Amino acid sequence: MRLRNVKNKEEILKGSKLLIINYQDYLGRWKDLFGNDNPLYIEIGMGKGEFILENALKYPNINFVGIEKFDSILARAIQKIEGKEELPNNLKLIRMDAKDIDLAFRKEVDRIYLNFSDPWPKKRHSERRLTSKTFLTRYDKIFKNDCEVVMKTDNVSLFEYSLESLSSYGYSFHKVSLDLHNSDVEDNIMTEYEEKFTKKGIKINYLLAKKDVNK
Ligand SMILES: C[S@@+](CC[C@H](N)C(=O)[O-])C[C@H]1O[C@@H](n2cnc3c(N)ncnc32)[C@H](O)[C@@H]1O
Repeated sequence: MRLRNVKNKEEILKGSKLLIINYQDYLGRWKDLFGNDNPLYIEIGMGKGEFILENALKYPNINFVGIEKFDSILARAIQKIEGKEELPNNLKLIRMDAKDIDLAFRKEVDRIYLNFSDPWPKKRHSERRLTSKTFLTRYDKIFKNDCEVVMKTDNVSLFEYSLESLSSYGYSFHKVSLDLHNSDVEDNIMTEYEEKFTKKGIKINYLLAKKDVNK
């Protein structure tokens, strides 16, 4: 996602009610922050946050944390979300590179959303893909019971890679579609990138994969 530098981004981040700057303080105890025992769903690479906001509004009994690594993108997300009339109390945001994900969560996440993740097409960068073995190993540390990954992408190569990587790591597929919008997947919430690609007639790949956390 390309975005011009947001000049007052530091102030926007500092003044945000949603952004958790000292996320390490909540390691293993996000339920204390949310004040309940509800399931915890996270989105890695949330971009401008439309998807996670809509989820939080639609599912008030699930806690959501959106993760984004770039200040400017996060600042735009915060402006958009905090500009709304009502802030959902089941939504928080973190600025973080997902390679540090296990510094933020420990055995407490129920689902990870990976929406239109960067494909890192060069082979020498394959470990940076969010479905590489390196990341799947990190995810094992943050999931509570079953590991559950939901992925959407326009990128066929990344999708094929992810199917192989998840399968070799012990995940099984509960749903796979090469054309999400013409599938029986219900209650799909579109992301910003999904809308963009769909308008261009590009098909969206979708998977829901699960694994026992101890396997
Ligand atoms: C192509 S955009 C997709 C945005 C949004 N999920 C959507 O579908 O509209 C990918 C986003 O992931 C973020 N991102 C990429 N790698 C990341 C990482 N390792 N940790 C956190 N965010 C990351 C990028 O900064 C960017 O905002």
